[in-house]
Amino acid sequence: MGTDRKPETIGKFRKRVFSGVQPSGGLTLGNYLGAVKRFVQMQNDNYETIYCVVDLHAITVWQDPSVLRQNTRELAAFFIASGLDPEKSILFNQSAVSEHAQLGWIFNCVARMGWMQRMTQFKDKAGKNAQNASLGLFAYPALMAADILAYHATHVPVGDDQKQHLELTRDIAIKFNHDYEVDFFPVTEPVIGGPAARVMSLRDGTKKMSKSDPSDLSRINMTDSSDVISNKIRKAKTDPQALPSEPEGLKDRAEAENLVSIYAALGDESVDEVLSEIGGKQFSEFKPMLVERATEVLSPISSEMERIMRDLPELDKVLNNGANKAKSIAKPILQKTFDIIGVR
Ligand code: TRP
Repeated sequence: MGTDRKPETIGKFRKRVFSGVQPSGGLTLGNYLGAVKRFVQMQNDNYETIYCVVDLHAITVWQDPSVLRQNTRELAAFFIASGLDPEKSILFNQSAVSEHAQLGWIFNCVARMGWMQRMTQFKDKAGKNAQNASLGLFAYPALMAADILAYHATHVPVGDDQKQHLELTRDIAIKFNHDYEVDFFPVTEPVIGGPAARVMSLRDGTKKMSKSDPSDLSRINMTDSSDVISNKIRKAKTDPQALPSEPEGLKDRAEAENLVSIYAALGDESVDEVLSEIGGKQFSEFKPMLVERATEVLSPISSEMERIMRDLPELDKVLNNGANKAKSIAKPILQKTFDIIGVR
């Protein structure tokens, strides 16, 4: 990588960024501001960056095969349309690199039942009917650890909700290194936060913006037209007060805070900067500004996504190239892992 500064390290490990997103459909502004925008920043900061469409994680809950295939490509198209450059970042599907599943199995044998049973995401996703959840859903975090550690990745940008899984990844690395008396896997750092780590519902500022919210008005989808975006922002919940000129004035005003932080993140500004410009305005004045900024940023991304999706052979070629590059890193790491544990 053509970096002109000294790469940061963790112990003997050079800084390498890895993250994954599930192709479970319904991409929203939350996926963009909360994840992909930061992936692009890290790429452009000249770190070695590896981004993965985690299709094997998606099937821990039922996926219709043709829908899964479509969502996988759509997520890859979204990555590229948002500025991930397959020449600068490694971009690929998890299932195309068999090392993930192989190392995942090994980590199933490192992780302890007690650790897995503490995972709150499993409890949330399995719900009341945990006996009927797939074994894969339970093992999900061990496969996630494999995603990361198959590359000796040191930094993982993720949302707040993935913190516990990253703790588990660290525990797996530490236990493996300890049990086999090696210094082989890095103890990965989570990178939480970012442009707008938590994008909230437009209808309820205390709930995360989600593709599964029953109200489509609660979210901005990456495929929404400018008219739809404008309508959703016009209908977004607010409060009767004017906008403050200091961040303290957003306290206990979840909806106002959400709209302001979306506006700031879309324009690469801080909330402070934004408030010093717009403090004192009414929502009736601020909302059209937000509409303008949102459509300015999102329209080119959605039309680029459409363009990419019209040439699937080309997209598949890009992903295959990415998978080959990924494999060239993961394969020797898996081989060394086999050596360490005494197989093959
Ligand atoms: N569990 C992550 C999520 O739902 C997705 C994921 C899978 C991931 N493997 C990963 C994220 C590796 C970071 C690194 O958001």
